[in-house]
Amino acid sequence: MTQESCAYASRATQLLYVIATDCAVRLALRAGLRIAPSLSTTLLYRAKAAARNVIHFVRAATACLGCSVQCAALLSSHCDATVFGAALHAGYLAIAFDGLFGEKLGRRRGVVAAAAVGLPAALLARQSIARYALYWALFCLTKQSLQMALWRYRGWRAPPLPITLPLLGNLLPAAPAFMRFLLRQAKRHFAKEGLFLFWPAGGAPLCVIAHAKTARKILSDRRTFPKGPDYRRKFGFVFGDGLVTAEGASHARARKLLAPYFRTDRLKVDGVLQAFQSSLDMLSEGDVDVQSFFHLATLRAFCRCLLSEDVDGWKRDENDAKGDVARFVAEACSFGSLVVGEHMLFDLPMSETLFGRVRKLRRMRDSLRSKVLRPVVERRRALAEKPDDCLTALIQHQSIDPTFTDEHVLDQLVTLIGAGHDTSAYFLCYACFELARHPEIQDALREELSTNEDDLFRRVVRETLRLYPVIPMVTRVASCSTSVVDGHGNNKSIPKGARLIVPFFLLNRLPEVWGADAADFKPDRFLAISGGVAAPAQGFLPFGSGARSCVGQGLALLEARTFLRELLDVYELRPVPGFAPSIKAGVSLTSAGGVRVRLVKRAV
Ligand code: HEM
Repeated sequence: MTQESCAYASRATQLLYVIATDCAVRLALRAGLRIAPSLSTTLLYRAKAAARNVIHFVRAATACLGCSVQCAALLSSHCDATVFGAALHAGYLAIAFDGLFGEKLGRRRGVVAAAAVGLPAALLARQSIARYALYWALFCLTKQSLQMALWRYRGWRAPPLPITLPLLGNLLPAAPAFMRFLLRQAKRHFAKEGLFLFWPAGGAPLCVIAHAKTARKILSDRRTFPKGPDYRRKFGFVFGDGLVTAEGASHARARKLLAPYFRTDRLKVDGVLQAFQSSLDMLSEGDVDVQSFFHLATLRAFCRCLLSEDVDGWKRDENDAKGDVARFVAEACSFGSLVVGEHMLFDLPMSETLFGRVRKLRRMRDSLRSKVLRPVVERRRALAEKPDDCLTALIQHQSIDPTFTDEHVLDQLVTLIGAGHDTSAYFLCYACFELARHPEIQDALREELSTNEDDLFRRVVRETLRLYPVIPMVTRVASCSTSVVDGHGNNKSIPKGARLIVPFFLLNRLPEVWGADAADFKPDRFLAISGGVAAPAQGFLPFGSGARSCVGQGLALLEARTFLRELLDVYELRPVPGFAPSIKAGVSLTSAGGVRVRLVKRAV
């Protein structure tokens, strides 16, 4: 064997060794986790609690430690298997020691004592102190942050973490289908308990609130659980101080000003119908992606209905053809939803230096504000007879409140456009997809929509939003130390500043709540459910709850009714063989490859 191939073989062995050790420890820990509950029934309560804490602590710390040691293994060219073995075992030993006695000794003394246990382990393996110190420093860095957070989240359980990868931690396995991952974990481990901790690599922990009553309580208590500074920073990058991001007096002022225009009796039904008719030429017989159609149609509807504006007439400069700006706005909103959603979830900063897509989003935002919306505001200001709508209300409010600047007006406009068409568009896409797969429901709905009845329509809306909640989750922050109740009736403490996530996507699909057929599209399940919001155990919250609930609910329903009626009148919807939406969790529930439906013209 050549020297070079020897070196490769040695590296491969090192890597295999590290991974094998890591896996072995993980398996042992999982086994320990399984044994723990049965032990706990026989042991004293204190022992049970201590064992649980140690196991959770060790498990989470192990993942981080495994990651950092693996990073070191890959980065260092001088490493050999024994060094890693020793460092790894020293680390695990130290964590176990710290987990058992750390609390009693106090944090600093705990770390020193843990080091004292780990050091001889390394020395026994005859490694140099310098190398040990390097790994120890790496280990301490990750452990310290974990430890601090875990002590704050005592009593919370975390799902077994997916395999940790070098440098990426557990981010990669979770990123592409975060919601499906959560769903799997929740079903497996926490279906009854409902509350658990999720730890995106590098980020702060998320308290997942998958328990219906607690979710409702949290969303209704805006003082204890506001949207929080992080939410404001990230959404504020696009929305500024608009209705979605504003807090306190600023939110109350905007809500009071804008909410009346969303009342059903004030919505312009004609505007919605015109929007559909002017978009219909985008559709033709055959397999189509209805996503782009609904995006444009709902944007047109929103602008006509609430701003009395024809978005197709908007221009950034002379070169823009009719409809160019409308397509740009729709694209900017979808892109913004994806970027902000991922940055929220994985706790990434909205840094233009670090992320090219944040720079792209900033360019889109600036162009939308200065080249599209500012001229719209100026034109309205110059009008002698202004229509009674949101835009006029915002402009007129400036004369009552001088602190309400032009920038505030633009913030509200960007917010309403952003929140107001993307959501309705995705909802309609998924409704069409399910109706295409269920011809009998489609026929019954077509018939009902030609009358003034709306029973089936409401059930279809609910069932679509149950399976595809277009806002798949919302986040909150604890403004003070508090506690919430889990599914077993136990209190779980929430430290001040903790991030909470209410995953509608998960809540709406739990078989424990919705039955064994939870994954099926069955609008009639709502026949048996009474109550205004049709909510098993009050957990069905497609439009949110409390003071921050959706202001545009009425418009969304009006658009849904009008668009479905008109579409089903012209076309029969059929499924595209082999197609299923590939769901991605942004701010809205997007589908990566669009939503495809086969359209067949109906005989008149
Ligand atoms: C099917 C369609 C829609 C769904 C499922 C939906 C869902 C939601 C949800 C769940 C929230 C609460 C978010 C939270 O608590 O953090 C919300 C808030 C909001 N929605 Fe919608 N929405 C829809 C359509 C619309 C439309 C058409 C508009 C029109 C402008 C709109 C504007 C807003 C605004 C401004 C807020 C923030 C309200 C506040 O904080 O006071 N939504 N929406």
